[in-house]
Amino acid sequence: MSLPTELGFGGVRPVRGRLRLPGDKSISHRALMFAALATGRSTLTNLATGDDVLATRAALDALGVRIRTGADAVTVSGTGLGGWREPEVVLDCANSGTTMRVLSGALAGRPFLSVLTGDSSLRQRPMRRVSEPLRAMGARVDGRADGAFAPLVVRGNDLHGVRHDLPIASAQVKSALMLAGLQADGTTEIISPAISRDHSERMLAALGVPVEVEGRCVRVRAGAPVPFQLDVPGDPSSAAFFVVAALITPGSDLTIESLSLNPTRTGFVEVLRRMGAEIAIEPIDERCGEPVGELRVHAGPLVATTIEADEIPNVQDEIPALAVAAAFADGVTEVRGAAELALKESNRIGALHQELSELGLAVETRADGLVIRGGQPRAALVKSHGDHRIAMALAVAANAIDGESTVRGWQAVSSSYPEFADDFARLTSTS
Ligand code: S3P
Repeated sequence: MSLPTELGFGGVRPVRGRLRLPGDKSISHRALMFAALATGRSTLTNLATGDDVLATRAALDALGVRIRTGADAVTVSGTGLGGWREPEVVLDCANSGTTMRVLSGALAGRPFLSVLTGDSSLRQRPMRRVSEPLRAMGARVDGRADGAFAPLVVRGNDLHGVRHDLPIASAQVKSALMLAGLQADGTTEIISPAISRDHSERMLAALGVPVEVEGRCVRVRAGAPVPFQLDVPGDPSSAAFFVVAALITPGSDLTIESLSLNPTRTGFVEVLRRMGAEIAIEPIDERCGEPVGELRVHAGPLVATTIEADEIPNVQDEIPALAVAAAFADGVTEVRGAAELALKESNRIGALHQELSELGLAVETRADGLVIRGGQPRAALVKSHGDHRIAMALAVAANAIDGESTVRGWQAVSSSYPEFADDFARLTSTS
């Protein structure tokens, strides 16, 4: 989908109605990869539509996995890892850290050479966090600056299970090591400093792979998932933008259906409730070990809060949306212990500081966070910094501000949610 380079907003429009979001991005990446690890046909519906998940699909295709799009489902004809073939081309992970990091783990045990690269943002993101622990399992992983940056070169090898004490709570790294562990001799044990999103654990366990989880420790042994069907639940990280939009725009009343309610993803709801938001959640279903349900929210006043370091792993993708909530809240909000924010698709600490300042707010940065004094944001020309979540957060702010605002660099949303502007326009058109 080709998107405009900028998006304009013309004043306050309530967000009203019902929304079904595209499938969760993290689950979509894993669904494609796990289906490719299985032997047999898997059927996936409501996969995320953005470029990140398309990059995973294209990489699997280059590895010889047959993936077809039908009328309303994607079918993956899995061959098991043994059927993956040496790719003739460089695997282009585009803007997607999940594609590069998690796929490296799967490729670490394959008896061939793979080269993974990405766009200029991804090539600057840290990869030693994945190359080093994979080397400890016997993989040969190289990259610029001795494996610190992409392009990465993975020459698969026989792997052995080891105990990893991860210095950071990263679900991408944990998942990469789990996929390497599925091909390793012995047990692979991964201990995280804090609990990070657990889709790999839940899905693999639901697909017959013995995964042991004990608090912050995950253990896997050699094994493979069975083929499966999955209707991917809606993406909570995308939901966060609409929830904040509804909270800060008077007259809003929004219901989001078929949403992933995985507790490692709904931390933003707790933060917003602490800020005074009334958000009702109803669990309805479970799919592949993932809880799914409905969320309802309406506009209401917000007060400032502090987001502490221990909360960050479960709200890190939602900080741009929460920063906008803070911009409209009464008082001073602090985000602490969030140094990882500087290493995302953009330096989100710097980007939020710059763009919220453009909106007339008093914002301070710390090496590991932000301090935002809520106020009355004013209309402005703001920029995405090439980051989908910064673009959507700014759109949500612009919709709640009197006057004409523009978000420049809008095309960045294509990595996760190309239909965002259409869905947002539909929900804001009833005023
Ligand atoms: C993701 C994990 C998180 C998150 C990213 C998606 C995943 O990154 O920020 O958007 O799908 O595993 P880290 O693993 O770097 O924390």
